[in-house]
Amino acid sequence: MLIDLGCGMGDVAIAIHRRTGCRVVGVDGAPGAVAEARRRARKAGAAPAIRFMVADLRSPPIRASAAYALDSLMFVPRPPEVIASLSRSIEPPGRIFVTFLDHRGLEREAFARFVEAGGVRLERLEDVSGEFGRRNRQRAAAARRMLRERPSWAGRLVAWLVLSEEAFVARLIRRGRLRRWRFTVVAGASMTWDPAARLVSSVTAIRALPAYGPGDGGSTPVRPAPCMVPALTDR
Ligand SMILES: C[S@@+](CC[C@H](N)C(=O)[O-])C[C@H]1O[C@@H](n2cnc3c(N)ncnc32)[C@H](O)[C@@H]1O
Repeated sequence: MLIDLGCGMGDVAIAIHRRTGCRVVGVDGAPGAVAEARRRARKAGAAPAIRFMVADLRSPPIRASAAYALDSLMFVPRPPEVIASLSRSIEPPGRIFVTFLDHRGLEREAFARFVEAGGVRLERLEDVSGEFGRRNRQRAAAARRMLRERPSWAGRLVAWLVLSEEAFVARLIRRGRLRRWRFTVVAGASMTWDPAARLVSSVTAIRALPAYGPGDGGSTPVRPAPCMVPALTDR
């Protein structure tokens, strides 16, 4: 069982279930996003295996063998404490996989210290600002295309807003003021070892996550995946 912390409209949870077959529980504080996520899961025929709940990601109402938080932990106060507390509620050898937008422009060492401040073990840390920059350029290109199609004044306004936002973000990324980090935290070692945790597909799912980009609309064919895989570090 995997928890999607701050699942938004559930695209990633659905894509992961389709790729790996794992059960996923998505948690988000926005009731509208959860309602939409449920609708999408039903439409994708994945509803029994994927559940969505309105809840605070800092205290998910279930335990799991692994969790991921994509661009959601930067919205909570004191993220390191939250990450540490979440890591204690994940069964070893699980992991928490996180993508995190940092607006302070911290260098690698400083960011690692920031995450580890709560007492967690950071397993991998990568600067993936480039990915974020690519997505930004795609959004800007879509806005320029929209402008070329001579939209209504409201459409023009939206496109100009997107373009100015993307130009601002691109400048922050170039100057190193805005960075997107991807990291994995090891589950709290104090928990009792649960052999069943090996039988769930948590790590398989987490291995699928680095490929995470704009949702593929659930078009990826279901691939029967073995639910027992080596640890993430074996890659
Ligand atoms: C930028 S969106 C990311 C959504 C999704 N993870 C994705 O990558 O597409 C951040 C999400 O985190 C949720 N969120 C932020 N703080 C939260 C909290 N304390 N508890 C639950 N959800 C939260 C927001 O409602 C929002 O859906």
